[in-house]
Amino acid sequence: MKRFLTHPLLLSVLAIAALYVLFAYAISPPMPRSLLIQFMAICVVGVFLVVSFDDATFQRFLNPLQLLLGSPGHKIPRALAFVVIVAGASALTYTWAKPSNRAPIELRTVHPAPPSSLRVFGNNYNLATLQNPLRETMPRGSDAYVEMISEGGTLYYENCIFCHGDNLDGQGHIGDAFNPRPANFQDVGTIAQLQESYLFWRIATGAPGLPREGAPWASAMPVWHEILEEEQIWKIVSFLYDYTGYEPRSWELEAQDAAAPESAEPASEASETSDEDAIRQVYDMRCAQCHGEEGEGDGPAAELLYPKPRDFSLGTFKYKTSAADSEFPYDADIARTIRDGLPGTSMPAWGEVLSEAQITGLVTLLREFGDWAEEDEEELGTLPMEMGTRVESSAESIARGAALFEKACLQCHGADGRGNVTSGKVLKDDWQDRIWPRNLTRPETWRWTKDAEGIFQRISGGIRGTPMPEHTTTMSEDQRWDIANYAMTLRDNATPLTTGDTVIRALRVEGDLPDSPDDPAWDAAPPITFPFAPNVIKGERLYFSLNDTVTVRAMYNDGKLALRVDIDDRTYSVPGAPEEVQYRDQETDPAPDAAAVQFPIAIPTTSERPWFRHGDPQHGVNMWYWRAPNEEAGEPESNALLDASGPDGPPTPRADSGDLVSSGSWEDGRWRIVFSRSLDTEDGRDLQFETGRYIPVAFANWDGWAGHQGSRHSMTSWYWLLLEEEEQPLKVYGVSGLGGALAALAFLFAARRQRRAYEDAESDAA
Ligand code: HEC
Ligand code: HEC
Ligand code: HEC
Repeated sequence: MKRFLTHPLLLSVLAIAALYVLFAYAISPPMPRSLLIQFMAICVVGVFLVVSFDDATFQRFLNPLQLLLGSPGHKIPRALAFVVIVAGASALTYTWAKPSNRAPIELRTVHPAPPSSLRVFGNNYNLATLQNPLRETMPRGSDAYVEMISEGGTLYYENCIFCHGDNLDGQGHIGDAFNPRPANFQDVGTIAQLQESYLFWRIATGAPGLPREGAPWASAMPVWHEILEEEQIWKIVSFLYDYTGYEPRSWELEAQDAAAPESAEPASEASETSDEDAIRQVYDMRCAQCHGEEGEGDGPAAELLYPKPRDFSLGTFKYKTSAADSEFPYDADIARTIRDGLPGTSMPAWGEVLSEAQITGLVTLLREFGDWAEEDEEELGTLPMEMGTRVESSAESIARGAALFEKACLQCHGADGRGNVTSGKVLKDDWQDRIWPRNLTRPETWRWTKDAEGIFQRISGGIRGTPMPEHTTTMSEDQRWDIANYAMTLRDNATPLTTGDTVIRALRVEGDLPDSPDDPAWDAAPPITFPFAPNVIKGERLYFSLNDTVTVRAMYNDGKLALRVDIDDRTYSVPGAPEEVQYRDQETDPAPDAAAVQFPIAIPTTSERPWFRHGDPQHGVNMWYWRAPNEEAGEPESNALLDASGPDGPPTPRADSGDLVSSGSWEDGRWRIVFSRSLDTEDGRDLQFETGRYIPVAFANWDGWAGHQGSRHSMTSWYWLLLEEEEQPLKVYGVSGLGGALAALAFLFAARRQRRAYEDAESDAA
């Protein structure tokens, strides 16, 4: 038995299998196939070298193989081995020959080694010895320390919250639009593992400061030395540690660590208590930065947010299940908002961070801010909403609902439900901010409503503080259920946001490509929808855009590629057009809507790509730019080709945009824009398209109504465009047949030689 278990052939097979399992499954993120094959080849050679080191071992290693191939007594195992090997070789070549439909995997070192020194703010810092200067001068707990942390917090909420989130957990409301996601500072794998000098380096130099293995081209992390001062960065660093309760790693602490393993528990909210002071502390830590110290909606982060955080002193709440004429929501309604947050706004979900007792305590505190804490629900006259009997969804109910929607909702929510006002009114909320009806085709932006029941409640109770009216007197309960059933079908007008797929698959067509955005031929191309993020990264920054998604389709033929880019946009911003003048914002200069598509100038052959915003000096990008007409200035729709090679200068338009064509059409709250160009051009500055390759692509949008121009725009991170190759069965099956045939030949050849060897040995013996 022992002899069997230590047999070199068995050990070799086990070793190779174990290494394969390790490389293929135990490493995260998974390594690309080509790398895996290289690794495995090295392992096989290594194992072979070990077993062939001395003759005796090598002979033992070969013995079973020789028996299998040559021994006259092993005919059946030999036949089986033949079948297995030939089938295996055909299958393997088949998987290689078959066109892959998986996007390239991005390998990225999350914490690459920092440089030894750093030149910023006109100084040279030695990162190995750099310390947080504030930590030495301000002992923890001192007044100066408390003041400094609070300043750091304010800076964080003014600059970082959009991406890294107000709970510092990487869940900022635009974080979903980036890949990699913004870092989660609450995770023990980030700042708890790092030295403060490391954070200083990362914050000061952002994505472009990363070495290659950190994939600088994909990161959205801004370059903060261009925006903040040195001391401000140290204040933010101190705040990050204070808020999360982690200790920075330092050379002195390292020695102590080794002696006593510390527990890395964040210190926040260690004790659960409903005691008033403790609740006040929770509010100060979790809510005040947006809702303000006295609940007046004026915290340091508030200015840059849209919609604005609620002013609790007015006692007006939008979302409730109490009857339309009840002034206040139930406590349970407010608790639900705190627990689940308001999707589509910066109001986070606190359910996983706060206990139920803390949430209840916060509800009481909010009532106090509004001076209605003393009365109970009965005294306030809060009554439940009458819901009647649910009318089940059916073709008839939906048809009745559609007719009612046209009368009662269309003037605000638009014919297809995209929230484009058609009444001509400029809508404002009670706080005198411009407000836009919800896009009913995009349920991920619905604040409180999830299903027909929720819609029934919103229609019945209206949304307080906003122009969204209540309909209890004007509509019967059955009618409200019909509209709710209809409104639930509006999402069929949209392609849902992608949940992980990153590839636009261009459809190959024979003959001409559709050149009009409204051509029904586009329906054949598979659509995919990506999120937009406002540019908070560089240049004149933009913090919010109503246009939050882009849906893309692509087609190509022998000579050309065409993309159709759909953007939900409530406003037709063609300055001077009657629809534009009607909804114009008096405080912003109107500009035409615009959109752009960005490609690298060459298809990357490694994982390296241009920086996702405007490329970089080594890797330029092409931009295809379309702009709506400007009737005021007498300018027609325009089309331009721009080159860019880095975030520091504006892209430069080319005098001649070759055969690039773009044109847009707006209807019912949506732009559809078609871009097309030849697959190959004569110009060395252009990307040359190739089929079967993954080509990086990104999108940008300017919402003219809101005055977006230049760097004030929204954008996506890099995605992929794949010009799908036609299935070539002959090639795929031919290659795998050849693979099988070669394996069969090799086997037969080896078996023949072994059989001869056996025969020779036998005749020698005889
Ligand atoms: C536009 C979104 C965005 C904003 C705004 C932003 N970051 Fe980041 N940040 C990221 C992304 C994405 C990453 C992860 C990729 C990377 O490491 O570069 C990141 C990573 C980091 C890291 C590295 C963490 C680690 O574990 O290595 C630090 C530190 C950091 N950010 C601090 C800040 C601070 C401080 C601010 C505000 C002054 C800020 N960020 C603002 C997007 C953003
Ligand atoms: C990052 C900013 C931010 C933080 C932090 C924040 N909120 Fe909000 N909150 C908002 C915004 C923005 C709105 C308004 C959304 C809207 O009008 O659609 C809001 C609205 C609310 C509402 C009103 C819901 C309604 O029906 O009108 C309540 C209640 C609320 N927040 C409670 C809290 C509590 C409690 C905390 C702390 C645990 C908190 N918020 C923390 C941004 C924030
Ligand atoms: C006068 C304009 C107006 C009319 C008429 C109107 N709405 Fe609205 N509606 C709005 C506005 C504005 C909002 C967004 C409020 C906000 O964000 O605070 C809204 C929001 C909504 C929401 C989103 C709720 C959520 O949880 O996010 C739904 C659902 C809705 N409306 C359905 C309807 C239906 C159905 C009708 C017809 C019965 C209708 N509305 C009529 C203006 C209107």
